Amino acid sequence: MRKLPKSWPADQATTSKAAIAHESAQKQVTGEAVYVDDIPEWPNQLHVATGQSTIAHGNIRRIDLSAVRSAPGVVDVIVQQDIPGDPDISPVFTGDLLLAGEQVNYIGQPIFAVAATSFRAAQQAVALAEIELEPLQPRLTAEDALAHEDFVLATHSIAMGDVEAALANAPNRLQKSMSIRGQEHFYLEGQISLAVPQEDGGMHVFSSSQHPSEVQKLVAHVLGVPLNLVTAEVRRMGGGFGGKESQSAALACMAAVFAARNQRPVKYRMPRKDDMVQTGKRHDFWNQYDVGFSEDGRILGARMILAGKCGCTADLSDGIVDRAMFHADNAYSLNAAEITGYRCRTNTVSNTAFRGFGGPKSMVTTEATIETIAHRLGLDALDVRKRNLYCAEQDETPYGQKVEQHVLPELIEQLESQSDYRARRQAVKQFNNACRWQKKGLALTPVKFGISFTSKHLNQAGALVHIFLDGSVMVNHGGTEMGQGLFTKVAQIVARGLGISVSRIRPSATRTDKVPNTAPTAASAGTDMNGMAALDAVNKIKSALFEFAGEHYRVPVADISLKDDCLWLKDRTIPFEELVKIAYMNRIPLWSSGFYKTPKIGYDRSTGKGRPFYYFSNGAAVSEVVVDMLTGEYKVIRVDILHDVGHSLNPAIDIGQIEGGFIQGMGWLTTEELLWDEHGRIISNSPANYKIPTAHDVPEIFNVALFDRPNTEETAYHSKAVGEPPLMLAISVWCALLDACASVSEYAFTPDLNAPATPEQVLNAIQAAQAYNAEQSANTEESC
Ligand code: MTE
Ligand code: HPA
Ligand code: CA
Repeated sequence: MRKLPKSWPADQATTSKAAIAHESAQKQVTGEAVYVDDIPEWPNQLHVATGQSTIAHGNIRRIDLSAVRSAPGVVDVIVQQDIPGDPDISPVFTGDLLLAGEQVNYIGQPIFAVAATSFRAAQQAVALAEIELEPLQPRLTAEDALAHEDFVLATHSIAMGDVEAALANAPNRLQKSMSIRGQEHFYLEGQISLAVPQEDGGMHVFSSSQHPSEVQKLVAHVLGVPLNLVTAEVRRMGGGFGGKESQSAALACMAAVFAARNQRPVKYRMPRKDDMVQTGKRHDFWNQYDVGFSEDGRILGARMILAGKCGCTADLSDGIVDRAMFHADNAYSLNAAEITGYRCRTNTVSNTAFRGFGGPKSMVTTEATIETIAHRLGLDALDVRKRNLYCAEQDETPYGQKVEQHVLPELIEQLESQSDYRARRQAVKQFNNACRWQKKGLALTPVKFGISFTSKHLNQAGALVHIFLDGSVMVNHGGTEMGQGLFTKVAQIVARGLGISVSRIRPSATRTDKVPNTAPTAASAGTDMNGMAALDAVNKIKSALFEFAGEHYRVPVADISLKDDCLWLKDRTIPFEELVKIAYMNRIPLWSSGFYKTPKIGYDRSTGKGRPFYYFSNGAAVSEVVVDMLTGEYKVIRVDILHDVGHSLNPAIDIGQIEGGFIQGMGWLTTEELLWDEHGRIISNSPANYKIPTAHDVPEIFNVALFDRPNTEETAYHSKAVGEPPLMLAISVWCALLDACASVSEYAFTPDLNAPATPEQVLNAIQAAQAYNAEQSANTEESC
């Protein structure tokens, strides 16, 4: 065979089922991997910057851009009226405007845009605008929006059983609220797009986007041209994490409008500080819960109110709040439940998808409830968890889907013993009794995460597989590569299907002119969907090849197979290259498209019942922390994870996803604090004041293992999705911190601990527990 494409390290070139390296790994390390900003610039290329609102809510009274227009290097300046097509770039609903119209609705909202000969010239020019804004009263919190019933979309509930009676009759009751902050995506590569005009009024857009089809659609809409004039292309992203699912489109649209007006290539790259101000984040939530439970810790009924801070428009918030509602049970049978999700409108940037898509927000609340129940009853929280887990006898979710694969009971048993949980619980108690100034906390928390888009139509995928005449193969599909290893896994699936080495296969950039009308790469379903579409293409090619080989070599088709880079006939083998050449000479198609739609799913929103998810991915983590009682500072000292990815397609990539997801979740729940001032200005707007985890924060002991059981559903080689679920394993860190704080009162009192549990929040919780102790001893003294 000729020289292999550079994608694969030579020593890993022949395996298809194994833990091979990511197809871009070598190129990323050497800097050869091409991102949008690495594409060589054209001599006449322009660069974009936007002029932004300085107030959270107000009317635009006057805009004077004359100084901007005459600034050095400025070639073009636009306001909303200059957009040739539709200025509304909303993904699903309406209201997301490329440039503001009469009103502004958040600080940072773009009002006008500049294209200049350099990035610096564009940045400097926008500062020269004179804009008069008439301030209106802004709404800044979910609590405020809830109180005033100000929502971007209608409220929904899901319900099961008679929750009123269950709560009224429960021997124990717990009523609380909890605020959980959002999260900045902090992808290493910021938002960026490059638009290049084509003949016939067409546009080619290189975008860092998880959703090329939506970029294509919205670029066509803002330009007022049909979709067949626009092509969106994505080779890879330097991270997306949900932040490039809908919000990457704005950059593509802005660059395309300028490119069309000036007939010059235009790049729009947001500086990090603009990216942190102008693009949406994970939703903040304010959750209230009312839970009834038995003396042995069984949840008898739960009423939960989940209020998501959507920001100024709907964006993807409907699905996000829905997913929060679907995950309010986490892994537990609630028996009777009423779960209501509010989509709160605020004058802040429109929040968007982020790994977990609302799921983490209700799950952390449920896990907080479990910890509190355990404290109330004097039980180990793990025993409360085990008592409430879904199992064959209690398998119905509040939305009517039955949990069919009961993975967690066994997985948790195994993790409990592997991590030495019980002995460590005793050790933690002894440590806490002996040490006044430091306390340890320990928690084992499970994750059950539903796999599928909850909007049914998004659960479809397409692929193209081409075999060339030298036996090399090219794979293309609708999924995008953002670091998660999708291209590697799909290549492995194709290699396995064709019985050839993965080194023969080259993944190619995602392009809307190759596979059209695709879903975003999201909901962790990338491999499930695109892998199966690629396998469909492979199967079509194989059928044609086998039929031909049967006739050509006079062998029954049942006796033909492809493996080890050869066609296997009854008594001999034909090398793959030779087969390909002979098949070509006999006019057999060596390429095919493939299609996949996820089976079995369907959810009726009007009844709140159905099967939104094809299956669930599961996992559990044990985290141990040590907390300084004087400062609230802490360290995560050990983490043990056991995670269910079905039969792993690539254990190296799966473990990487689990480790990365966990650390990202740990950042969300510990150090990453999104802060806004009283005017609605985000003040955590740079890495200096927004602290993502570093290598230093990775636990010293970090054991990650796969729970190797096949997915009983017909997924690609019985694997399971892995992208999002591990993020929620980090709830164990938050629970361990709560556990350490509660140990101050010997677990008699559960202090409030909002998320993220920064050292400041932890110190507040410690002091609340100490105040409780003081009150108790004062009461005891009084009664003496
Ligand atoms: N891993 C890396 N390295 N970078 C990313 O941006 N995004 C996550 C996850 N893992 C992400 C990642 C998110 S939010 C999702 S939904 C999935 O990958 C998407 O890819 P998949 O469906 O192919 O798993
Ligand atoms: N995650 C989960 N569900 C989703 C997503 C996502 O990013 N996008 C649409 N549905
Ligand atoms: Ca962002």
